[in-house]
Amino acid sequence: MLAKNMTEPMTIQNAASVEETYTLMKARLARIVPDFELVHKAELAFKINQLKRQKNAVILAHNYMEPALYHTVSDYVGDSLELARISAESQADIIIFCGVRFMAETAKILNPTRTVLLPAEKAGCSLAASLTGHDVRLLKERFPGVPVVSYVNTYADVKAETDICCTSSNAAKVVKHLMDKGHKKVIFLPDEYLAKNVAAEVGVTILFPSRPAPQKSDDPSNFERVILGWNGRCEVHEQFTVEDIENVRKQFSDVVILAHPECSPEVVQASDFSGSTRQMIDYVRNVTAPRYLLLTECSMGDNIIAENPHREMLRLCSVRCPHMNLITLEDTLAALEHNRYEITLPDDIMNRARASLDHMLEIR
Ligand code: 13P
Ligand code: SF4
Repeated sequence: MLAKNMTEPMTIQNAASVEETYTLMKARLARIVPDFELVHKAELAFKINQLKRQKNAVILAHNYMEPALYHTVSDYVGDSLELARISAESQADIIIFCGVRFMAETAKILNPTRTVLLPAEKAGCSLAASLTGHDVRLLKERFPGVPVVSYVNTYADVKAETDICCTSSNAAKVVKHLMDKGHKKVIFLPDEYLAKNVAAEVGVTILFPSRPAPQKSDDPSNFERVILGWNGRCEVHEQFTVEDIENVRKQFSDVVILAHPECSPEVVQASDFSGSTRQMIDYVRNVTAPRYLLLTECSMGDNIIAENPHREMLRLCSVRCPHMNLITLEDTLAALEHNRYEITLPDDIMNRARASLDHMLEIR
């Protein structure tokens, strides 16, 4: 099932007044958001929900959105793959993407006749910023015929040079798909840690040709099956360490630790589960444990607790994504009022980028 907002039936979204919006928000978020904020945010949420209906707009919110936005104005929530699928099928005139730029670009590429708005113009991503289309062209010249897999956390110019995109929830599946078709080498961009985690899962060697002074032993032709990686990193997930995990386990021996695959392979191995943001949410919903710790962006733990108040979540998190954090209710309202910031891309880039996204969506 597509990821309808967790607040279904969408009572907050359909509330008839600011007072009703506030009451419903309090019922869900009182443990997480201070009351004075709820009062202020209920007013914004009510205005957004009204205007959204008037303009035939839909709000797609990534799982990292702050709780008072995530649980109040979003029509759909999800991880990158779910939101890509939803945006491809949307019939709304306007898609407001409460996430970061590469996600809004993906929505535009998949559904080019819609107006796609990103509420904060500068909501970027350290992974997407680590690589350009020119870098990919150079790699393709160096490794002719080797298929290029790019994480969706890339901009459209990179996707235009890519054979097939992937997200954290299907990365290993995409690489296996190519290797099953007989490709012994796959270029996998740009996340170093995700590439290493995928290589471990698929059971293949990983090399980094972009690094200076490659050794003779680093020649990809020496290996039966190999992933050629890049050196991008998520500025949030690279901060988690094995030491953090050891310290938490010393204090809470029964904790279940979930890590996003953008964390280092050492962190992923020291955790109990690794998966996309949706897969982590589903794990907490479906697997009963005394307590959980999420090694990912902080807001997600709050969002899960709001929906599952009976679950015990260790809220030790201090790592917010500075880009996701830019998306506020204030800016979402301004986006609707002033039709900003519209995503526009050159036709040629969009057409080539769409092929790499379509290939990804075909793999189930
Ligand atoms: P998901 O696809 O798992 O939601 O990840 C997106 C992201 O940016 C993680 O940092
Ligand atoms: Fe990019 Fe990391 Fe932020 Fe996700 S959490 S948007 S990968 S910087």
